[in-house]
Amino acid sequence: MSESKVMTRRALLVGVGAAGGAGAMFAAMGALGLAPDAQEKDFVPPQPSDFSLRGRAAAKVVVLGAGVAGLTCAYELGKAGYDCTVLEAADRVGGRNLTLRRGDRLPETGGETQTAEFEEGTYFNAGPGRIAQWMVAMDYCRELGVPIETFVNNNASAYVYTGGMKAPARARTARADLYGYVAELLAKATHAGALNRRLTKDDRERLAEFLRRFGDLGPDLTYGGSTRRGFETYPGVTGGVPAGTPPSLSDVLSAGTGRALTMDFGYEQAMPMFQPVGGMDAIVTALAGAVGRDRIRTGARVTGVKNLPDGVEVAYQGGTLRADYCVATLPPHLLARLPHNLGAPITAALRTPVPVAAGKIGLEYGRRWWEIDDRIYGGITETDLDITHIWYPSHGYHSRSGLVVGYYNTEANAELYGGLPHRDRRNRALTQGKKIHGDKYRAELRSSVSIAWQRQPHIEGAWVYWPSHQGAFALLQRPAGRVYFAGDWLTHLIAWQAGAMESARKAVTELHRRVLQTTS
Ligand code: PHE
Repeated sequence: MSESKVMTRRALLVGVGAAGGAGAMFAAMGALGLAPDAQEKDFVPPQPSDFSLRGRAAAKVVVLGAGVAGLTCAYELGKAGYDCTVLEAADRVGGRNLTLRRGDRLPETGGETQTAEFEEGTYFNAGPGRIAQWMVAMDYCRELGVPIETFVNNNASAYVYTGGMKAPARARTARADLYGYVAELLAKATHAGALNRRLTKDDRERLAEFLRRFGDLGPDLTYGGSTRRGFETYPGVTGGVPAGTPPSLSDVLSAGTGRALTMDFGYEQAMPMFQPVGGMDAIVTALAGAVGRDRIRTGARVTGVKNLPDGVEVAYQGGTLRADYCVATLPPHLLARLPHNLGAPITAALRTPVPVAAGKIGLEYGRRWWEIDDRIYGGITETDLDITHIWYPSHGYHSRSGLVVGYYNTEANAELYGGLPHRDRRNRALTQGKKIHGDKYRAELRSSVSIAWQRQPHIEGAWVYWPSHQGAFALLQRPAGRVYFAGDWLTHLIAWQAGAMESARKAVTELHRRVLQTTS
């Protein structure tokens, strides 16, 4: 078609905007996929009328795994009346969505079984702990009536502590110094003409104006510290005692606070983030309830999957199931070991993603010293110690007790902690945390539980890493005969519940389309 005959999208939008105003124009942009953050495609759950209108019946589906992906599949298929059975190896639902409370037992492969001795009301999100507002996990919370509250993912009052620092500093102090010096350097370089070839005079002025704000620079473009660094005595009736003068530029650079201070710059981590009230497992409790507990068999480890000419056969501890289709949501490294007749390329593909180790420890205290002594209400301390992060609770403020996540680490650090018995993990975590918080960190501990996801039975990893998104990743997006795959591991949202949910929606959409098109 020639240019002149086509109404350009721009011309159309200008017209719609003139006729209907900004709202109409924005709606039109959404329809054209041009609005910011427009969803690529909206998910439409299968519904009973899809069948009645076509005179077809819903199929029987066996779902492997009652984690977030498996439960989402069964939930969405169930809306249209699919006959779903979910097989789960563990004696609980949820998979990696795990909240531990008083009396909960946590088994470990090749290790001891821990029992949470928390007080009534204390909980520990041992798996996922935060949800970004754009993620589909938020939509499921809304739809299922799971109340949410803010998860404080960044707190200027939390600490930063690296090997390059003499003592921990508040994040606000470290940030003021790093931004301050960076702004000074760039402002002075610009002023000295270093960017004259890149910038017009007007742009140089605009840049300088921004840098003065960014770094809180003096009139001479020098960073000399400011109240952004915080106070030793907070202001009130008096002006307070400021936190002092900044360390030298060289000391600030050698402190190496860059990782800590950019932690939440990414689209997955930016504030505000959210958590379900009362524990992350509220999501799986709601999903499992909506699926129907009678459809979920726990303690039912799958031992084999077979494509048949007219269905699937799944063997599990306790029996054999025949169904029309199967959705396999187990971690790929476990699926790869399962006897099946899906073919060698599928096994090879399932072996491609590499499991990643991660661990957490929940430290319960009888006094909320982080609030009372440190005035930290939620948020995260970042450190290059092997504990990597300390999470302060984003709920229960001012209550009597609380639980701090004493480490959340991955890969080598997680292997190191995971290789120790719980008591040694705890002692190591306390020794490290003491460097930031002092003696109370050990002295006031009430109880603790630690998890090493690579040692969790039926899971064997925190998440996976794909060396490439070609080949194996693409192959497993398609069904192998009547067996579909789903899980966060099949998305670009690995290690997020939203990934599991998005992947489940994709499998459900494709399976349903196939069922509607199949004649027999
Ligand atoms: N979702 C996990 C978390 O919030 C793991 C993760 C971290 C995934 C950072 C991506 C980016 O900690």
